[in-house]
Amino acid sequence: MIYPIVKFGNPVLDKLAEQVTVFDEELKKLIDDMFESMYAARGVGLAAPQIGISRRIAVIDVTFKEDPDAKLVLINPEIIHKEGRHSQSEGCLSIPDFRENVSRAKVATVRAQDLTGQVFEKTADDLLARAFQHETDHLNGKLYISHISALKRDLIKRKIRKLVKAGEW
Ligand code: NI
Repeated sequence: MIYPIVKFGNPVLDKLAEQVTVFDEELKKLIDDMFESMYAARGVGLAAPQIGISRRIAVIDVTFKEDPDAKLVLINPEIIHKEGRHSQSEGCLSIPDFRENVSRAKVATVRAQDLTGQVFEKTADDLLARAFQHETDHLNGKLYISHISALKRDLIKRKIRKLVKAGEW
């Protein structure tokens, strides 16, 4: 099932998402739906709050279907180590048609649980490290625009307000 993507302005995006404690068939189905919804929206990462579900689940595929082994499920993820800085253009399915340079750690280690509840750690750099940080932020009610200057953030918010008024958001 393809879920519609929740956009900036919906309070579910600002909430601290709830810890996952049950690893069952329902969770597996939700994760399949999250991948399907992410690919349909042409994204490389999706957090559950972005489909209106306030639970600590994210899916990532920075290769966008090219490498089946690149599909990654993060349940209850935490960033446990960060190194270096790197600024790169970043977007978000919940803030469509906007992009900004965002400075983040170049290398990041995530600790998370998989579909079965098994805890694992994974270290990545560049785009995947950025995805770890971006998606984990979502589960803490944080969007990438919180990492840019107030000036740029206000500009984006103003443009979104206009789009909302025009019925285009
Ligand atoms: Ni996002």
